[in-house]
Amino acid sequence: MMGAPAFGAGQARLCVPCLLGLEGPIAAELRRLGFSGVAAENGRVYFDGGRTEIAKANLCLRMGERVMIELGRFVSRSFETLFEGVKALEWEALLPKNAAFPVKGHCLSSQLMSVPDCQRIVKKAIAERMKQVSGVNWCPENGPVYQVRFFLLKDLVSLCVDTSGAPLYKRGYRLRQTAAPLRETLAAGLVNVSGYRGRDAFADPFCGSGTIPIEAALTAKNRAPGLHRRFACMDWPGFGPQLWEALREEAESREFHGDYRIFASDIDPEAVAIAQENAIRAGVEDVITFSVADACAFAPPEDSGLIVTNPPYGQRLSDRKEAEALYAAFGKTWRSLTGWQLYLLSGHTEFERCFGLPAQKKRKLYNGMLKCDLFMYPGDRDRI
Ligand SMILES: C[S@@+](CC[C@H](N)C(=O)[O-])C[C@H]1O[C@@H](n2cnc3c(N)ncnc32)[C@H](O)[C@@H]1O
Repeated sequence: MMGAPAFGAGQARLCVPCLLGLEGPIAAELRRLGFSGVAAENGRVYFDGGRTEIAKANLCLRMGERVMIELGRFVSRSFETLFEGVKALEWEALLPKNAAFPVKGHCLSSQLMSVPDCQRIVKKAIAERMKQVSGVNWCPENGPVYQVRFFLLKDLVSLCVDTSGAPLYKRGYRLRQTAAPLRETLAAGLVNVSGYRGRDAFADPFCGSGTIPIEAALTAKNRAPGLHRRFACMDWPGFGPQLWEALREEAESREFHGDYRIFASDIDPEAVAIAQENAIRAGVEDVITFSVADACAFAPPEDSGLIVTNPPYGQRLSDRKEAEALYAAFGKTWRSLTGWQLYLLSGHTEFERCFGLPAQKKRKLYNGMLKCDLFMYPGDRDRI
């Protein structure tokens, strides 16, 4: 058995699942927030903490998908070992007697591959444990919700309880969106990888619903992205309003109030209107200049800066051809600029050929299930 099996002393092993490719930036973000025991794995990043760290991570993390408490992990190749392993964990240290504990999970490359069967067994084992330690013969489950999540990968099962509820990419500002929007956590990841911290000019000429420029503005202002939303653990005992008030105040006191230059444009006037509404809802409209414009006629607003963007990929064949022509035209425009670095996310396998220039660096990132590359081009053409 591995991991921190209890929450009794108010300390636990915490786990942040994430989009593949963002583990490194999230580990750095957790360290910057002052957390200890940070360790990255494929698709998840761990750290140590108790209630304060859980609340702070939910409020402040930009790139992680959720914050979970890992109750334990162990190898399991049969329903019997799954049942016994789950029952051996100290659920009662975290769950109150009346807790509701729905179970969800995933199985990948393991002997146990039936999600519904594993779900049923995990549920039954937790119920058995709770009944045994409470000396009752049924669990009322009429209290706060503790969503249990199991992940079975190569026969290693990890048992977690989700503290976030709605995933962290649901910041609450994007009520309307255009087609193919990026998750807010991925947009924040692109901004992070580009190195933008508020000093340079920043542009997204294919802004769609505005996710990238809004996340750039939140980063520049050092604004905690979860300030105005709810988290599942707010309903749990020990996670009362004072805890959140203090952390919100602390986060707000760390905000910056600089003069940021962020430019967002799209060829579709409706997209620009949506992006503008979203920026207002996010409270960052004061630092973003919006316009309707063709990216292939991009007129640099300053001598130098960063372009971080996500043009259409063209999923269908006819759209693919259109996307290829667009990459060629945008490539020509970009080559005529000097001083602007480019970070472009695309899932199109022939992007560099169409763009007309090999990237200086590439980073594999997943947009949900879609494998993409972040193509990076330096501002100074001589370096290519
Ligand atoms: C994949 S979407 C961007 C999604 C955006 N990152 C978001 O999170 O909502 C691509 C955007 O490129 C825009 N677009 C297509 N051709 C364009 C062009 N020539 N110039 C500017 N924008 C264009 C589309 O209108 C669409 O909004």
